[in-house]
This record gives sequence, C-alpha cells and structure tokens, in this order.
Amino acid sequence: MPITIAILSQKGGTGKTTAVRTLTDVLSRGGLRVLAVDLDPQGNLSDYLDVPPEAQPTISEVLSGQAEIAQAIHGQVVPANLSLAETELALGGKIGRELTLRRALEQAPEGYDVVLLDCPPSLGLLTVNALVAADFALITAEAQYFALQGVEQAMQVVEVARDSLNPSLQLLGVLLNLADMRTVHSREALVSLKEQFGEKVFDSVIRSSIAYAESAERALSILDHRPDLAIDYLALAAEALGRLGGFQEARLRIEQISARAAE
Ligand SMILES: Nc1ncnc2c1ncn2[C@@H]1O[C@H](COP(=O)(O)OP(=O)(O)O)[C@@H](O)[C@H]1O
Ligand SMILES: [Mg+2]
Repeated sequence: MPITIAILSQKGGTGKTTAVRTLTDVLSRGGLRVLAVDLDPQGNLSDYLDVPPEAQPTISEVLSGQAEIAQAIHGQVVPANLSLAETELALGGKIGRELTLRRALEQAPEGYDVVLLDCPPSLGLLTVNALVAADFALITAEAQYFALQGVEQAMQVVEVARDSLNPSLQLLGVLLNLADMRTVHSREALVSLKEQFGEKVFDSVIRSSIAYAESAERALSILDHRPDLAIDYLALAAEALGRLGGFQEARLRIEQISARAAE
C-alpha cells in the first residue's frame, strides 16, 4: 500500500500546489512511484503537470462513481477541472460522502509508493475527503502575519478527521512556505509556528522566489530552472522521508541530487 499524504491549508496561495508538483518531481527523481491527485476545481496542479485541459475522465468522474480511478490517471496525475465544484456539491447530499475518495483510492493500481493529494483552498468536503483518505497531513503556511491562525484552523480539521473517520491519520509536519527570512514577518511566523507546534514544524523552509511562477509558466521543473532554489524542496523531501521512515534509498538519492544542485 502506498503512503498517502494530503497537502492542505486553510486558504489559497500558501504554495500547496507548487509543493505537490515539486515533491512529485523530487520524489520521482528519488526513484519513487508517485501519484498526484488534484482536488482543486481550479485544476492548477493538472496545468502544472501538463495534463491537457480536455483530459477525461478526471477526479470528478471518479468521485461521482462514473469512472474508476485507474482510468483517470493521466501520466502521474489524476486531474481536476471546474466540474469538480459541482461534484463536490452533489457529493454533499450523499451518505458516506467523506469516504468517497478513500474508497476510490483503494482501487488504485498497485505499485505506487506515495500518493500526494493537492487540496483546494478551503477546509470543506474535498479537503475532508483527502484527510479521510490520507495516512499523513502536511499543512502549508505562507510566511506572514496570520500564518499561525491559518495553521490552527487546518489543524482542527485534521483533528476532526482523526477523531471521527480516520483514527490513524498523523501530522507529517507544518511547512513554512514563501518565506523571506530577511523580513521580520517571515522570521516571526517561523518563531510562532515553532512555539505552537514545536518539532512538527519542518526545519526545511521554502524560500519565496519569482522563479516558481516562472517555472510554472514555462512548464519547467524548478529543479531544472533554478537548482540553487530547488535545494529547499530537496531538503524538505529528505526531511519528510526521514519522518516517514523507510525509503532509505530514495532519501540518499535525493541528498545526492541536492549536493549537486548546491554546487
Ligand atoms: N516559494 C515560492 N515563492 C514564490 N512564489 C511561489 C512559491 N511557491 C509558489 N509560488 C507562487 O504562488 C502562487 C500560489 O502558489 P500555489 O502553489 O498555487 O498555492 P496554493 O495551491 O496554496 O493556492 C503561484 O503563483 C505560485 O507560482
Ligand atoms: Mg492550489
């Protein structure tokens, strides 16, 4: 069985989709088989990972029972588009609505090591579905003044999912993203997150850079576009694999890529 990780935050713009995209890339280069699932009707992850907008079926058809998950895998990704907003509404009226994604993922083809779930920018039913389907939650926070509040709200939803439908759900960590450590705001955000969540805050911080938007626009991985910046995500991936345990070989490979990128 793969390890499933939900990447969530209470709002948009905290770098979730970029994290999923980049971790998909980094973990794949580490030799792991990764499946990325887009759970945002905006379909940003599908764009980033170069799935044609007309690709069918998508996660909508899977969640509404019209397609098997295996049919909806395009390359490495199960894409989403605007129809997911309607699917979410329709799902709301169904019994077992929180379990829909979990049941779908149980039917996924064998051989994946890691499944990454890119949550929408809210803590609604789709995010709850992700948390019920996941083994681990990774919360992203934008390095600014209200970061702590957002993480606390996301944490509450993680706890609700754990207490109700998914007792084995664990917090993988809290990621400080889009950080500029030269600013007081970013430094204070990190301090307050560490005060509140201690060890759960990743040591790896993702620096803010326009290069992420550029690389998305050019459909280029940050590893190829700006290896000097990509070391942030390489460090995060190695740290996350360390927390997960196992994956020794992948971790080693990623550390080797990181050493080359830093040169
Ligand atoms: N480390 C970063 N530094 C600067 N901009 C970033 C970084 N990560 C992501 N971005 C940009 O910020 C915007 C929001 O990122 P995205 O990953 O889509 O966030 P979310 O999925 O949480 O809404 C995008 O334009 C993206 O290119
Ligand atoms: Mg997103």
